Amino acid sequence: MNYNVTVIPGDGIGPEIVREAQKVLDKIGEKFGHSFNYTEVLMGGASIDVHGVPLTDETLAVAKASDSVLLGAVGGDVGNSKWYDIAPELRPEAGLLAIRKGMGLFANIRPAYLYEELKDACPLKDEIIGDGFDMVVMRELTGGIYFGERKTEEVDGVMKATDILSYDENEIRRIAVKAFEIAMKRDKRVISVDKANVLDSSRLWRKVVAEVAKDYPEVQLSNMLVDNCAMQLVRDPKQFDVILTENMFGDILSDEASMVTGSIGMLSSASLGATKCGLYEPSHGSAPDIAGKDLANPIATILSAAMMLRYSFDLDQEADAVEAAVKKVLEDGYRTGDIMSQGMKQVGTIEMGSLIAERI
Ligand code: NAD
Ligand code: IPM
Ligand code: MN
Repeated sequence: MNYNVTVIPGDGIGPEIVREAQKVLDKIGEKFGHSFNYTEVLMGGASIDVHGVPLTDETLAVAKASDSVLLGAVGGDVGNSKWYDIAPELRPEAGLLAIRKGMGLFANIRPAYLYEELKDACPLKDEIIGDGFDMVVMRELTGGIYFGERKTEEVDGVMKATDILSYDENEIRRIAVKAFEIAMKRDKRVISVDKANVLDSSRLWRKVVAEVAKDYPEVQLSNMLVDNCAMQLVRDPKQFDVILTENMFGDILSDEASMVTGSIGMLSSASLGATKCGLYEPSHGSAPDIAGKDLANPIATILSAAMMLRYSFDLDQEADAVEAAVKKVLEDGYRTGDIMSQGMKQVGTIEMGSLIAERI
């Protein structure tokens, strides 16, 4: 089969990690008889430099017309970058939010799985790690405070900034359904995370999630406050199967979940909506501190490409092959700097990509 993939390398380490994911996809194509046709487009800072905006209408149209999108990361060194002191809608990150919204990608799946081989890279004690853990953060992606009214103004000589957090019941229902569907294929446990002791939006969230749960009697639902969840993730990560949460809580908790898997460089993600065309990107950012140095871990992006094979193209066998190759490379003792531990062989971004491709 032929698949048309929009490729958005983005900024910082983006181009380096996306290249390795393409290397792996090409090997899958060769081995299983598929061809992946790539259309490379600009987004984020790279697009600002050329077009003056982080996402052009044309780029969005190319993405929507393709079978799926593979993205590296966007953004500069926040606070110090040339892209920081500009209007909010013109910043690199605004391009990412606009493509998520424009493609209707309301469900962000971020699996955090501890590979047996990476136990030494996990900062938690052995007795907490036990025989490992395997969870998924299901993050709402096109609502909440990211998309509410935002303004900075001067009121009576005092500067004031406002960001509004709101959800309607339909936005909550559709992400809850996705979370329960995923839970049915896993350990059938959903923990919905909110701040219902303070926020109205969280109270509505809890109510709608409980209604959806009635359609999934086999799935055990419980609720947890977000501050407690942040603590529980490092106290006892094994208790989590599916974490269902709103946009900003999911952003924060997924970075935390990634660290218990050894590194943010391991955390893949899929952003899905109503159609088969999804957006696949690592959960981490453009890592300006290590860009251009062949230091970035490409595994999160490679595992995101595996999710593309599985969710957008229904190529389960091919996705399994990518995941098995990642596992094999870790078993064989190869590590990028972020997951390095004693006695292992340290490799760069390019070599890591090649080693994984070779094992397919
Ligand atoms: P970051 O995730 O880019 O980096 C945080 C730390 O993790 C850094 O020390 C970095 O070197 C390290 N790191 C990240 N990915 C790594 C990898 N693959 N291998 C090894 N180490 C890795 O977060 P940040 O520094 O807070 O943000 C930098 C820029 O990225 C900002 O402009 C931010 O807005 C943007 N960002 C973009 C996305 C995205 O495009 N999806 C996601 C998060 C942050
Ligand atoms: C992520 C990132 C983005 C987010 C930023 C860059 C807008 O942190 O994908 O996790 O907050 O969603
Ligand atoms: Mn994030």
